[in-house]
Amino acid sequence: MSQVEEMEQLSDEVGYLVYNETLIDHFMHPRNAGEIENPDAMATVGDPTCGDFIRVYLKVEAGKISVFKFLTQGCPGAISTSSIATEMAIGKTLDEALKLTDNDVIEAAGGIPSRKAHCSLLAIRGLHQAILNYHTSSHPSPQEGRGEGEEERK
Ligand code: FES
Repeated sequence: MSQVEEMEQLSDEVGYLVYNETLIDHFMHPRNAGEIENPDAMATVGDPTCGDFIRVYLKVEAGKISVFKFLTQGCPGAISTSSIATEMAIGKTLDEALKLTDNDVIEAAGGIPSRKAHCSLLAIRGLHQAILNYHTSSHPSPQEGRGEGEEERK
């Protein structure tokens, strides 16, 4: 039985949604919540199934995500999985971050009630959209980023 199925079964047995300690910790103490001035990229995406949304802010240094902050209007599942997603993405290259999936976030969370599994999509969709926005803005890639008076990024 998967972690999601276990939590769903437990939720059914007790009659309310059961979140594990990891999710509760990230909900009560969200990491990287907030906004940043002058982000290198940002994106706002919503979940059409529930109307909640997230705004993602990224700073990118030498092709890696150095800062990932978020603001969300979402349920506890969205807040906790967004917090987990920031910890997973910071330090990764943009290509590596694009490969992160909501299933990766659920796995890192140790499972989530299946009715809340879609909430983990918010941060991943926001992250991926922000990276796409970064690439389509005037930011050069790390390989082409030096020249014309621009300092090398470390
Ligand atoms: Fe909307 Fe969780 S129910 S993000």
